[in-house]
Amino acid sequence: MILAEQTATGFEKQFGYKPTGVWSAPGRANLIGEHTDYNNGFVLPFGIDKRTYAAVAKRNDKTIRVATSFSSELIEIELQEAKPEDLDWALYPLGVAWVMRQGLGSGFDLYLNSDVPVGAGLSSSAAVECCVALAINDLWELGHSGQDLALIGQRAENEVVGAPTGIMDQTASMLARADAAVLIDCRSLETEVIELGFGAKDLVVAVIDTQVSHRHSDGGYKSRRDSCELGASTMGVTSLRELTAADLPRAKSLMDDVTYRRVRHIITENDRVLETVEALKSAALEKLGVLFADSHVSMRDDFEISIPELDLAVETAVRTGAIASRMTGGGFGGAAIALIASSKLLELQEAVARAFERADFGPARVFAVSASAGARREL
Ligand code: GLA
Repeated sequence: MILAEQTATGFEKQFGYKPTGVWSAPGRANLIGEHTDYNNGFVLPFGIDKRTYAAVAKRNDKTIRVATSFSSELIEIELQEAKPEDLDWALYPLGVAWVMRQGLGSGFDLYLNSDVPVGAGLSSSAAVECCVALAINDLWELGHSGQDLALIGQRAENEVVGAPTGIMDQTASMLARADAAVLIDCRSLETEVIELGFGAKDLVVAVIDTQVSHRHSDGGYKSRRDSCELGASTMGVTSLRELTAADLPRAKSLMDDVTYRRVRHIITENDRVLETVEALKSAALEKLGVLFADSHVSMRDDFEISIPELDLAVETAVRTGAIASRMTGGGFGGAAIALIASSKLLELQEAVARAFERADFGPARVFAVSASAGARREL
């Protein structure tokens, strides 16, 4: 609650009056299922206990003003103007407002605050999009469902920010539940809440943030997406979701090696998501070790989105006794996750610090996250 109140205070200092309300949405960590979302496949993310807060009030005119705790800039635009461009952090809230512009009769004032690390692969951007979308939805009584708001957030990301990302992050941020992950079928957009039960076993999910930052509006993410589309069209299907492991020999005979490996990652990763769900449902957590390890190797060697810092993070976590570890998120930087006994968290922090120093990498940050609720009104 403290950050929510600070956000309300920040708003008041900035704009000189009290906000109507404060809304929040979490960042996310993905347990497993990477780059499968835009291939209509399966993903298994959870909301983390780090959130972005938006204090908002409607205005009587058409002006939209946005400010934040981490920049002294106040950005002001008029509603219904052309698509916002070149506005750095403000593109996220203004992108959502732009997508929702038809429902907005007037402008608004908005103040953002967040403790979601930026560029760490924990979806700080989806957290902004989702709390702003929910605030607008509530204030103008637009009646969108959580899933609709996730799609609105994704459109802001794709059409305004320019990152060709899938639907995982916004769905996780909107629909997350405490102590649970959300299985998302990205073809039907159906979701199922999967209880995690880590706390009962004294386990935590540690995030190892390499502090190598990434942006998905740069080339690597899009080139993976293009390869997947090429793979699907070569196989005569609308998405790689339609394929199974039985299709791999034919895929190999039809594709160049790189495209084939991209396709193999997606097909095998979809299977690993479903196997992880089975393991969680039967409380067979030891099975996650192999599934996460295979997922990481597949991302490193077939999809080629890992970096040496992430490989070292995973290796160090496993050596320190993590039950399971893999890189999480889009890759090219960001974080790895490790499921580890809570009593070993300190040891993991020390081991990562030593290993990164020895490898001459910049320092990594290691912290535990717990599965938390999705977007909601706070005040
Ligand atoms: C980023 C994107 C998601 C997803 C992941 C990789 O987080 O925003 O849509 O594609 O990468 O799984």
